Amino acid sequence: MKYQTAALFFLVLVSCQTPSIPSCPQVSEHLADQVSFPCGVVVDPSSLEFNQAYAGIVDDHFNSVTAENIMKPDALHPVEGVFDWAAADQLVDYCQRSGKRLHGHTLIWHQQLPFWMQHYQGSREDWERMFKDHITQVVSHFKGKVASWDVVNEAFNDDGSLRNTIWKEHLGPSYLEKAFRYAHEADPEAKLFYNDYSVVLAPQKRAAILAYFSQLKAQGVPIHGIGVQMHIYNGFPTDSEISQAMDDIWRAGFLVHLSELDISINPLGQAMPTPPEDELARQANRYLYIFQSFKRIPEAYQFGITIWGVSDADSWIRYFFNRDDYPLLFDDQYQPKPAFCKLISTL
Ligand code: XIL
Repeated sequence: MKYQTAALFFLVLVSCQTPSIPSCPQVSEHLADQVSFPCGVVVDPSSLEFNQAYAGIVDDHFNSVTAENIMKPDALHPVEGVFDWAAADQLVDYCQRSGKRLHGHTLIWHQQLPFWMQHYQGSREDWERMFKDHITQVVSHFKGKVASWDVVNEAFNDDGSLRNTIWKEHLGPSYLEKAFRYAHEADPEAKLFYNDYSVVLAPQKRAAILAYFSQLKAQGVPIHGIGVQMHIYNGFPTDSEISQAMDDIWRAGFLVHLSELDISINPLGQAMPTPPEDELARQANRYLYIFQSFKRIPEAYQFGITIWGVSDADSWIRYFFNRDDYPLLFDDQYQPKPAFCKLISTL
């Protein structure tokens, strides 16, 4: 009896001491050092300035940076002809000081446009001028400081047709090719990307994008790569669909940027005050699969992987879709999650 009580006490003690998330002894190693391609993260400059834990993770584990919101048209160009460079310039300084690559996101999109642009009135020539001026001013300002740009974001529908946006409505479909030409004129060294979602999940969309840009490229339009957003889930798309998409892109001759990676574990938006351990383990396997299959594409096409947020507390998924979720590599306390530990220990 005495022996049984002691055994029970021991069991309780052990289970209390076992942390819910497995320990991660290799955390002193740096994620970006584990891979030969650029390892990026999306950031917000004020968190970088005021949140030490956040800044520590960005400093230590990533060598490429994308701005989450401050380089979108509404942030950079709030009033026609008036640019607000302050926050983005601060990020440029940070990247230069820390030797990190800066990826520009995004020049032309149908969302996060300033009010004046959305409601712009004018002739076709006025629209052409306004469109060209925005691209030229922004790319020229960051010339030599921003290594690459998402020139156009989300211009295709999931069925492969071109999305109706103000740009298509006022400039016609050729706005796409013009955007790339203007960006290239303003900074001939910058790598230029077309960026979109559902590139993996919707093969017809991927095929349409690749056919469209292959044709433009053949005509001499300066487009270098495809950004695959990768806001994905534990359950879908499948692993093989992910590697198929990457293969299709590099085989078509484009650099591959997994540009906005996060892996949701709660697609149905159920109440989930804490993340279930089995889902965190699945998420870890999925992150690892993605990094490993990215490693397998020819090095010349590996532009990099960018994670869309530092910790779960910073993830856009929570506020944008209004659901509990845990899609990133660090938890709400900025502690490494199983996914991070798996990457660090396996890559
Ligand atoms: C998101 C940001 O993360 C949010 O903070 C913002 O409120 C909305 O935009 N596709 C994109 C990104 O190309 O710019 C989006 O970023 C996420 C989806």
